[in-house]
Amino acid sequence: MQENIMRLRAEIEAYDLTAPEQLEQFRIAFTGRKGQLADLFDQLKTVPQEQRRAVGQELNQLKQLALDKFSQRQQELEAAAQNAPADATFDYTLPPALNTLGTRHPLNLVREEMVRIFSRIGFNVAEGPEVEDDWHNFTALNFPENHPARDMQDTFFIAPSAPPAHLGSGEMASDKALATPHHLTISPSHLLRTHTSNVQVRLMESQKPPIRSIMPGRVYRNEAISARAHMMFHQVEGLFVDENVSFADLKQTVYYFVQEMFGQDIQIRFRPSFFPFTEPSAEIDITCLICKGKGCNICKQSGWVEIGGCGMVDPNVLQQSGIDPEQYSGYAWGMGIERITMLKYQIKDLRLFTENDMRFLRQFEGVQLG
Ligand code: DAH
Repeated sequence: MQENIMRLRAEIEAYDLTAPEQLEQFRIAFTGRKGQLADLFDQLKTVPQEQRRAVGQELNQLKQLALDKFSQRQQELEAAAQNAPADATFDYTLPPALNTLGTRHPLNLVREEMVRIFSRIGFNVAEGPEVEDDWHNFTALNFPENHPARDMQDTFFIAPSAPPAHLGSGEMASDKALATPHHLTISPSHLLRTHTSNVQVRLMESQKPPIRSIMPGRVYRNEAISARAHMMFHQVEGLFVDENVSFADLKQTVYYFVQEMFGQDIQIRFRPSFFPFTEPSAEIDITCLICKGKGCNICKQSGWVEIGGCGMVDPNVLQQSGIDPEQYSGYAWGMGIERITMLKYQIKDLRLFTENDMRFLRQFEGVQLG
């Protein structure tokens, strides 16, 4: 009996318990109801009376040893299973791959900053369609038909696409062929808006004064792409209509904006100009920030750069949009977001905004909005 116990002890100690399926084999072989330990306990009755107690204790110790070994290996194997590599060839000592966060696009940053600056003085944000009709882009803004002023803006007109087969040949393609947010039915006089001034008209048609809104958005012109021009760019239009609004109010708003955006030291000048929808009209110039006013290629050696146009809303435009010009007056402006971004961040080529060069975009990582 003693010999049997020693042999079994050696066997239990040596038993290889490295795989989960061996646990069950171990249990059946040793501690189970029909296992070897149970056998030895059965044989206890054959042990002479005076030794039985000592042998019984020994057997109990052996059983405990087997149970301990079993539960310890069971825990270890379970823990290992939880951390088990899905792919054993993967090197877990490698440093983790960094999460790559995207960055805000510089035009987006500046647009948002403009919205914040103007919202601090009470302007809300309005939006309008990029696919526009002739009325809102031109006629309502005092561009008479066939007037040369329309040539100031090289327009992309939208040729209606061929009608879907089931509509037959006589009917116009519907807006399904060219989805727009306003569900326009595209007609030959539709175009890609050349400026955000279309939203002015839509606002005045749909709201009563006081109106105090800015209208950021994308605009299109049929221009060759170069460092200074693009066929797609962004503007922020502004409109303020109320009683007794004057040019002095307009100047004050522009001064405030420019100083908030570029700092207190910046110089601003209003240059008389012409727009069909404003009278009087002006262009807004500020100190060239690329050369600090000394003269460079960007400012054509003048030290000044234009950031937008502005003026008092022409009474005719108010009238056409349903606002009484006897009672109300208003000012408006339109500024280029690209131009302002280029000045703010010393960017010399407009094409960088649309090329998605990561080396360019990464530089705006972590830019804090003002
Ligand atoms: N729409 C003009 C342009 O794109 C900019 C502009 C000038 C907008 C004067 C205005 C304004 O609202 O009053 O060139």
